[in-house]
Amino acid sequence: MRKKIVAGNWKMNLDYQQGVTLFSEIVNMAKDEVMGDQQVVVCSPFIHLHSIFQMAKGATHVAIGAQNVYFEDAGAYTGEVSAAQVKSAGAAYVILGHSERRAYFHEDDHMLSKKVDAVLKQELTPIFCIGETQEERESDRYFDIIKKQLKNGVFHLPNDAFGHVILAYEPVWAIGTGLTASPEQAQEVHAFIRNEIANQYNAHIAEDTTILYGGSCNPKNAPELFSQTDIDGGLIGGASLKSRDFIDIVKVFNS
Ligand code: PGA
Repeated sequence: MRKKIVAGNWKMNLDYQQGVTLFSEIVNMAKDEVMGDQQVVVCSPFIHLHSIFQMAKGATHVAIGAQNVYFEDAGAYTGEVSAAQVKSAGAAYVILGHSERRAYFHEDDHMLSKKVDAVLKQELTPIFCIGETQEERESDRYFDIIKKQLKNGVFHLPNDAFGHVILAYEPVWAIGTGLTASPEQAQEVHAFIRNEIANQYNAHIAEDTTILYGGSCNPKNAPELFSQTDIDGGLIGGASLKSRDFIDIVKVFNS
């Protein structure tokens, strides 16, 4: 059975104290209100990682993640942070290939595949993001784009390593825009991704892979999105900065 996951991506928001306050609200609400086997992941800026990891101890549903790492193990890379470093601070997950990193920091598929390797080497779980731009959707090239991102970013992995990867389909035109993919549009791409995994690996691995949807997900649209056959949860940006909204999204999976 694949895992149901709701991951928050705080992006470059919240100062240290604001992050700690938000996280304590999330942990308290999760304790009282989350009743299922869904996993909650909070991907904070690096500065919060260790403190919120300490606060998450004993909170069975909640784990911590980073939003990026560099692919080298250590050394003279001023300003960068390694997978081993975020692991030592308590991270269990790392978002990789987010469209903002692809667009603003020129992270290409080749670099991202090295980051995936670095994260798996530390036995952390990559949340690998893929998705098409508005122009790519309008010109009907989205399947090709997604296929290429999968092939270059994660399909070099052998079966056992790929089994540790979580994918997130995030149409770029839906991120932070208030425009959500319709449940049908999202399901269509999620089914395509699962089929690509089955072709590359096998049906069993495809069935077990968690594929998240991201892009203007909120408590209102999450129930319909998450009820689609191939959508296993969400990667939440804006709505993860409000504890009430974020936990309401997590509660869609309450049993
Ligand atoms: P959003 O961001 O929910 O604010 O659209 C999603 C993301 O970028 O992961």
